[in-house]
Amino acid sequence: MRKSYALFLLLAVVPAAVVQAAVPPVRPAQLGLCAACHGEDGHARIPGAPNLAGQPYAYLLQALQAYRDGGRKVPVMRAATGPLTPKDVQALAQWYAAQSPCKPAQADSP
Ligand code: HEC
Repeated sequence: MRKSYALFLLLAVVPAAVVQAAVPPVRPAQLGLCAACHGEDGHARIPGAPNLAGQPYAYLLQALQAYRDGGRKVPVMRAATGPLTPKDVQALAQWYAAQSPCKPAQADSP
């Protein structure tokens, strides 16, 4: 009886943990601002704005912190990140990291 209970727990808990890791992050409230230039899906909308989709979370987080704190001196990004809380920054980095990367051939394909 005990053994099967342990097995049940294992079967119930392990897949739940796996599924949770794959759940996409919640759409951040501040995404609208970023979307004007970077797109909601991280595929850039204006020339000069980098594609963010699928870049590593740690990289995006560090870049956003650098713009906000003035380590990277880019006025548009400083203005965009200035009002963000650390939680917002994490949520946005998580969101863009979870988007599907742009396909390199997309723009040129017939
Ligand atoms: C007015 C247009 C504009 C808006 C709005 C904007 N960005 Fe940017 N973003 C840029 C440009 C241009 C760059 C490239 C700056 C540079 O050369 O470092 C950039 C760079 C970045 C980078 C660094 C990417 C890399 O590969 O190093 C991240 C991350 C980023 N933006 C996230 C955001 C987020 C999140 C928001 C919303 C809070 C936002 N941006 C709002 C134009 C914008």
